[in-house]
Amino acid sequence: MKRIPFTLAAILLPATLQMLLSGPSLAQGAYPSRAITMIVPAAAGGPSDTVARLVAETMSAELGQRVVIENMGGAGGSLGAGRVAKSAPDGYTLLLYHIGVATFGALYPDLPYKPGEAFDSVGLVTEVPLTIVTRKDLPVSDVKALLDWLKGKGANATFGTAGVGAVSDLCGRLLTDATGVKLTVVPYKGTGPAMNDLIGGQIDVMCDQTTNTTNQIEANQIKPYAVTTRERIKILPNVPTLAESGVKGFDLSAWHAIWAPKGTPEPIRQKLAASLRKALADPKVIERFAALGTAPVSDDMATPDSLNQRFQSEIKRWNQLLAGAAQK
Ligand code: MLT
Repeated sequence: MKRIPFTLAAILLPATLQMLLSGPSLAQGAYPSRAITMIVPAAAGGPSDTVARLVAETMSAELGQRVVIENMGGAGGSLGAGRVAKSAPDGYTLLLYHIGVATFGALYPDLPYKPGEAFDSVGLVTEVPLTIVTRKDLPVSDVKALLDWLKGKGANATFGTAGVGAVSDLCGRLLTDATGVKLTVVPYKGTGPAMNDLIGGQIDVMCDQTTNTTNQIEANQIKPYAVTTRERIKILPNVPTLAESGVKGFDLSAWHAIWAPKGTPEPIRQKLAASLRKALADPKVIERFAALGTAPVSDDMATPDSLNQRFQSEIKRWNQLLAGAAQK
């Protein structure tokens, strides 16, 4: 074996030792070495797609490799999430979605993956309020009158959602539980396409994220009745909360987050989380979020640990709320 001069050995040894001791992390110094795919399990142009495309731009700049959005809608998002669950845990396939992932276990007991065990956390992104909106020609204008109208229509009232487990669906479930109205659910691959039908008057009502409704409300394409958060939101000051409109205690927002397949090394997830925090501190992103009725989470929430805690507690909460609602 060729003898290595002493000085070179003295330089190489620490590096080699560190690589051996810290396992794959140093090798990941080269991460990412190619483009990263971020799966959004809902149709393009919808609320989750909007959030993903906004943060992906700055994350790409930070990581030095493109973060490419791939939309895979269907089954409330559980199909696209499944795609990530079975992807290689190498940091090159990510999932950006929301609260829905915490409900998939309760709603889809036969899924080929366990949502609470199939993912490793990267970080929370934003908490998007939702709005109750209808087609613009609906002959009523406040929550009480809307609920009476819906009760009058009975099951003939059509309610657009992004499928079972989507937040537009969860909102409908909480609303029907709280008010007793009956709705005929019309599922889409995302609320992007559902919104087109609401604007066209093909469906009557939706509960959808401000990232998808604000522009249509401002353009008088649809009618707003209430927001689903405890407090009113800045960009819709005249739109009351559901709670102040009589649906006591109603409080729902679509917390969005980024996950990676289970087994994705911690150093890679920390690097992704750091690039996410940069994106959430980007004035362009902050401004766009504000114009769409939301805001970045605080830095300490855009971390693997914070998301993991939130995710596990939300799974427990929704397992109770959705007990007995499993889809066969
Ligand atoms: C979407 O992007 O289409 C939504 O996030 C779907 C939903 O959960 O309502």
